[in-house]
Amino acid sequence: MKFKSIKGTKDILPGEVEAWQHVERVVHRVMRDFNYREIRTPVFETTALFSRSIGELTDIVNKEMYTFLDRSEESVTLKPEGTASVLRAYIQNNLGEQSPLVKVYYMGPMFRQERPQAGRLRQFHQFGAEAIGSQSPLLDVEMTALALEIYSQLGIKQFELKINSVGCEKCRPQYKELLVAELTRIQSKLSPESQARLKQNPLRVLDSKDEGDKAATKNVPLMKDHLCTECVEHFTKVQQLLNAIGIKYAIDGRLVRGLDYYTKTAYEITSTALGSQDALAGGGRYDLLVEKLGGKPTPGVGFAAGIERLLMVLEKSGNTPKDEAGPVLFFVALDNSSLTWAFAEATKLRAKGIAVELDYLGRSVKAQMREANRQNARYVVVVGETELKSGKAKLKDMRNGGEQEISLERIDGSLQS
Ligand code: HAM
Repeated sequence: MKFKSIKGTKDILPGEVEAWQHVERVVHRVMRDFNYREIRTPVFETTALFSRSIGELTDIVNKEMYTFLDRSEESVTLKPEGTASVLRAYIQNNLGEQSPLVKVYYMGPMFRQERPQAGRLRQFHQFGAEAIGSQSPLLDVEMTALALEIYSQLGIKQFELKINSVGCEKCRPQYKELLVAELTRIQSKLSPESQARLKQNPLRVLDSKDEGDKAATKNVPLMKDHLCTECVEHFTKVQQLLNAIGIKYAIDGRLVRGLDYYTKTAYEITSTALGSQDALAGGGRYDLLVEKLGGKPTPGVGFAAGIERLLMVLEKSGNTPKDEAGPVLFFVALDNSSLTWAFAEATKLRAKGIAVELDYLGRSVKAQMREANRQNARYVVVVGETELKSGKAKLKDMRNGGEQEISLERIDGSLQS
């Protein structure tokens, strides 16, 4: 029986992983420049953490979570997103007591049992950041600047930033009533899915992809036009700050996001280089969430970005970084005792930080040379009985074919990087 990876999951193979490592390096660097520190939370958590934060009536909680009873009959869930876990860790470890503003970032796998398609996986990877402890709109904007700086350093130019305000506990309930009344009036024109959403999660009718829904809801009231004074002020300030740092954006009054914890600012970065799953990143403010999860009332804001989708955009634009560097040195051994010597020498050189490879398959000299070439080795040293006796060997520079005689005792001194 041959095993296959589970539908919607992917192996990241040598040759592909270099692009991932490049993205990871850029993320670590930019996060540090913005003074965010890494946090690593477990891959699974108590199920209630997610249903309580993301929202019982969201698609994620309703249809997509990998939830199971463990052997002690506790319901656990593979994390579908990072924010809930970060806030749980923030509360549990009293991070707020150590510092009034906690700026953290994370990177890793998330799990959602969605229908797999291009750009939509069941195990996918995100990097994200959360700033916990301040209501300042500076941080809403810092999040977008952070994401865009990472994209810029990776060479991604094709994207659009959409922003909206989804209001707060003061203005949203009234708006919701207004929206439900209007949607109920036009209910018969809505798709069956939107009719169901009208009952469960009416705001999500606004971001239906169905053309009929779009036409029918063209003139329904939008949250951004029904904000309370505090939310208007916050939203205005966010826009002023985006202008001040030269970030282009579009206001999208229909942007509602698929997670229920947002208050005030919500944003999404989309790319036309992606298909129907065009969201590269998304996020927003969640001023009530820490309290909802049992902590002291503490505002927060964050974003998360899909790494697979980012790599798709890089690939489309021909910008996928390739790491073609092979070993610095490849030992070609002519017999068994030379191979043992090469093995010992390789171990010493590796300990000095030099990447060394040799032949483990008992290949002919010609085949070993071919392998050194295939692996893109920078130098080759051929060792046999004569070389070991004289302590001297030829160092071949594979870039230009040049050869020089070197002492086997001081190989490292002869290598240029
Ligand atoms: P989200 O919009 O659910 O937000 O996910 C963020 C990003 O993760 C998406 O824009 C997309 O690039 C990627 N993504 C989501 N689902 C999949 C999937 N099935 N396959 C591939 N990529 C996917 C959140 O997760 C929030 N926690 C963001 C946040 C952080 N809000 C505040 N802080």
